[in-house]
Amino acid sequence: MFKTISLLPDSYLLKPEFTFGVATASFQIEGARDTRLACIWDSFCEKPSAIADNSNGDIACDHVTHWRHDIEMIADLAVDAYRLSISWPRVINEDGSVNSQGMAFYTELLSALKARNIKTYVTLYHWDLPQHLEDKGGWLNRETAYKFQDYADKVSRHLGDLVDSFATLNEPFCSAYLGYEIGVHAPGIKSQQAGRQAAHHLLLAHGLAMQVLRKNCPNTEAGIVLNFSPTYPLTENDCNAAKLADQYHNQWYIKAVLEGCYPPLFDDLAADVKPIIEADDMAIISQSVDFIGVNYYTRIHYKSTPDGWFEEAPLTDVRVTDMGWEVYPEGLTELLVSLHQHYNLPKMYITENGAAMADSLVDGEVYDIERVDYYHTHLNAVCNAIRQGVNIQGYFAWSLMDNFEWAYGYEKRFGLVYIDYQSQQRILKESAKQYRALLKQRKK
Ligand code: NOJ
Repeated sequence: MFKTISLLPDSYLLKPEFTFGVATASFQIEGARDTRLACIWDSFCEKPSAIADNSNGDIACDHVTHWRHDIEMIADLAVDAYRLSISWPRVINEDGSVNSQGMAFYTELLSALKARNIKTYVTLYHWDLPQHLEDKGGWLNRETAYKFQDYADKVSRHLGDLVDSFATLNEPFCSAYLGYEIGVHAPGIKSQQAGRQAAHHLLLAHGLAMQVLRKNCPNTEAGIVLNFSPTYPLTENDCNAAKLADQYHNQWYIKAVLEGCYPPLFDDLAADVKPIIEADDMAIISQSVDFIGVNYYTRIHYKSTPDGWFEEAPLTDVRVTDMGWEVYPEGLTELLVSLHQHYNLPKMYITENGAAMADSLVDGEVYDIERVDYYHTHLNAVCNAIRQGVNIQGYFAWSLMDNFEWAYGYEKRFGLVYIDYQSQQRILKESAKQYRALLKQRKK
């Protein structure tokens, strides 16, 4: 177990050009539900037993009240950048006009970050689709992709000058697969056809948004954030299962974005679960991006099913986080090297990496040594990939602070900073102190 987060002195991560940051997302931290439109997660939280602790995002970390303090905290961590997301239902009214109060919130927030020399990495969609759009079919309705383009247009016109890096979507796999295919995330739909169609419309939305970002902010970098859980066969008989799972869960998205086509598995899907794709869609989806953001937490083992498909087969007797996810830093190196071998990649950032642990606050301190170890080993895994030639330009810890962990509610804590939800007090955990100590070693 490492008690510090340390890197070799000649590590590329310690060079001034490498960006270190922390990340959050609007629905998970903002609260202030009464000052924005409803989104699909508000509705999902109302469904009985959808959320483990029956909680919701009404208050969360009450960031809309405490944002000034939170920015001080970010600055105090000595990071170069902050990755946040804009809440679509906070900035756009139902008739498509701009909600000036909502937009003003982000103008102030981003300006305050810039004033502290903290670079702003802004994600446009981190899962909080306005409910009125879901009422018209959500991501199953092609029109939603055009609504997203319009939203991206308005945000980039209003906030573009304050943004260093735009990401269109965060983890479209989760929106499509978890939200529309197996229904454990909002909006809770369970249909393979819906999952595939939502995935396609999300990717189309990414491409359409890229067009307006290029037009409105030609000097600002723009890309997409994708999650990867590298797949491994449970036994040597399960190699095909692992390959299929990889195509379905991981390659589906990056291949569409970088190469304009879906992986070979697409051809094997039954006609009635294939998404409807219009003539120019794949060209729109695959226009050039400046970066790919990689979110990595764990690897997953798979076994074959009798019908030739795949199912998860978790290893037993391995170290896991509080999410039950295996701690496997080598998987991050292997993933990055494999992407580098298979694609013509733009630069990459690790836009999320981190661990939920069962933290306890003792005498005002959280000694989260397992999280320290997680960061230590995963940062060194990034170094290993860079040494093998992969172009990685930044790393963002997930998350700045404990927050609403989707279907798990507030039971899972991913923060570098502990949140006492009763008092809304923020308390730096040991991992935050170690992260800061590492970052302060750099000569910037
Ligand atoms: C990925 C998501 O982007 C983020 O919202 C979530 O909290 C983390 N994974 C941890 O599950």
